[in-house]
Amino acid sequence: MMKVLLTGGAGYIGSHVAASLAAAGHDIVCFDNLSNSRADVIDRLEAITGKSVPLVVGDIRDRVAVRDAITSHGANAVIHFAGLKAVGESVAEPLKYYDNNVRGTLSLIEAMVDCDVRTLVFSSSATVYGEPQYLPLDEAHPTSATNPYGRTKLMVEEMLSDIAAADPAWRIAVLRYFNPVGAHASGLIGENPAGTPNNLMPYISRVAAGRLSELPVFGNDYDTPDGTGVRDYIHVEDLADGHVAALDRIGAEEEEALSVWNLGTGQGYSVLDMITAFERVNGVRIPHRIEPRRAGDVASCYASAARARDELGWAARRGLDDMCASTWRFERTAAMRNT
Ligand code: NAD
Ligand code: WQD
Repeated sequence: MMKVLLTGGAGYIGSHVAASLAAAGHDIVCFDNLSNSRADVIDRLEAITGKSVPLVVGDIRDRVAVRDAITSHGANAVIHFAGLKAVGESVAEPLKYYDNNVRGTLSLIEAMVDCDVRTLVFSSSATVYGEPQYLPLDEAHPTSATNPYGRTKLMVEEMLSDIAAADPAWRIAVLRYFNPVGAHASGLIGENPAGTPNNLMPYISRVAAGRLSELPVFGNDYDTPDGTGVRDYIHVEDLADGHVAALDRIGAEEEEALSVWNLGTGQGYSVLDMITAFERVNGVRIPHRIEPRRAGDVASCYASAARARDELGWAARRGLDDMCASTWRFERTAAMRNT
């Protein structure tokens, strides 16, 4: 069993991974500056896990604070979620992204080396595949970036690969997430973006709740079965289980210093598929209108999930209906809590 420091552990994905790690018997410590999350997530995590969950409020760019958190809690592994993730904002404010995501990761790694901890799982993204040259996207697909956010993920991947090449004592898992959606079955934790959501599922959920009036569908003239964009949506609880599997795997002696795994389902759904499923599963209406394409969007993006299946023994189990039902359950419990 490991003692895992989760940077960004109060965030959407980090909190679900915290729940899965605790369920698998690992000890967890969250480290978060709360720039895009709230401390009361930890109370709900404690309700889910039935354990006390320590939260260190700090910034990954603060090497001393990270070092103190690792040593005082005796962490022997780090899962690194902390960062900024809004593509549009990264175009407008690139420095903020290079500072948080690149400088922040560099500082985190220095603190890990200070503490002699060399086991790391990194939240990367399918965005590093750029414009797909073939589908499904396997881990050997060439990488490129189409915006500053994507470039920060690519830079960190390259940095990690150099570090692993120089020191084979490292055990690094680079996990490339496709489109995480849904919420914990308890309804207690989920995705609750500040302001107008950038992503499809939170937008759909807010339209269903009457908090937004209409969903813009960005383009219906793509080369896809119904003309709307196709993505590989993965239930966040499946994604979380994938982290537990990756952590187990890199702990094995014979493992490489660095490995890359896609975390996706291998199945693509269109925007209209998502609207229809959400309406059917939850008995709600999602008013929507067709709008022009969004800059930077691709027609289709979905994973080959074969390497994760073969090497991690992990595959997504939860389907589209569960993704839609859990999103709506969280929306309604969050409304009751008035958050
Ligand atoms: P999130 O914003 O909910 O979580 C990120 C957390 O990190 C937040 O709690 C925030 O307060 C914290 N944080 C940000 N900067 C920090 C800093 N400098 N120091 C300490 N804490 C800091 O986002 P998420 O959706 O949970 O994403 C987690 C990770 O997964 C990110 O690295 C993101 O780029 C990556 N990712 C997300 C998606 C997605 O669609 N959600 C897809 C691919 C990759
Ligand atoms: C999905 C589909 C849109 C909103 C982004 C990042 C990527 C990764 C995951 C972090 C597309 C359509 C959306 C709306 C719409 N994040 N859409 N109306 O763009 O696949 O990926 O999140 O690493 O890097 O780019 O996800 O949820 O924004 O869009 O029609 O209001 O929904 O055009 O086809 P995307 P998304």
